[in-house]
Amino acid sequence: MEWNGEHYADHTAHHRAFDHVLLERLQPLAPHGRILDIGCGVGNFTAGLVDRVPAGSVLGVDADASMVATAQASHRDQSQLAFQVTPAQDLGTLGALGPFAAIVSTACLHWVPEADQLSVLQAARDLLEPGGQWCVEFGGRGQVDGLRKTLDPLAIEFGGGPPRWFFPDVATYSGLLVAAGFVDVDVHLVTQNRSMEGAAALRGLLTSQVLFAYLSDIDDARHDEFIQAAGDAVIGAAQVVPGSPKYDVEYVRIVAAARKPL
Ligand SMILES: C[S@@+](CC[C@H](N)C(=O)[O-])C[C@H]1O[C@@H](n2cnc3c(N)ncnc32)[C@H](O)[C@@H]1O
Repeated sequence: MEWNGEHYADHTAHHRAFDHVLLERLQPLAPHGRILDIGCGVGNFTAGLVDRVPAGSVLGVDADASMVATAQASHRDQSQLAFQVTPAQDLGTLGALGPFAAIVSTACLHWVPEADQLSVLQAARDLLEPGGQWCVEFGGRGQVDGLRKTLDPLAIEFGGGPPRWFFPDVATYSGLLVAAGFVDVDVHLVTQNRSMEGAAALRGLLTSQVLFAYLSDIDDARHDEFIQAAGDAVIGAAQVVPGSPKYDVEYVRIVAAARKPL
């Protein structure tokens, strides 16, 4: 099991409902500017960025070929929008496509190992115009702790362990941005309640964007069994919203803005 663009595309509504938290931190851009979106997924956040640069262009990059293929198929007719496979760790290869007025990212950077975070930020700074904006959101300290109380012990029972997500606190991520040479650093932890409409939506969230973080350490032969057990356990432990079929999942996000010096 790994990222699957078509399956993921059915389960992005909970991200899109909170995009405004990031977008309100993105300062106005020159109409002809270029924007880079790291970890663009199926491109439905990326596409909305074109409005910010009506005479410019937006490039979405992602490590996963299935996500990029779905993004390309869904946005064929938009000439200002392009997608390509490039992991965050390879941003340095994008120099010829820049410089960018802004680099943004949603729900991606916690998948980048902690050891790679500083070099990703340094490469991003190099891709920005002087004064260019870094404006990102991703999982922060405490992200999906409620799910993890159920999933981490279950993974251990299946021979795996806790996932290797990077969920920093404000001081850690601010320190990385300063170390990478950014200024006007503004980092917050924001708690959000993401409501899933019924048990099928909760299972879809798990299978489309959560469980692969556990599977890499679990024997392939037990993946299907783990996926079923994980869904059953999370639904069994979940707080159902009284009087409705909704399941609440607590997200904690790092929301960060910074600039390359002029
Ligand atoms: C939860 S999805 C978010 C996608 C999109 N930004 C959104 O908001 O819907 C996380 C994305 O990060 C991508 N990703 C994971 N590790 C990555 C890396 N090292 N470099 C670039 N993309 C990565 C995954 O392939 C996936 O598309």
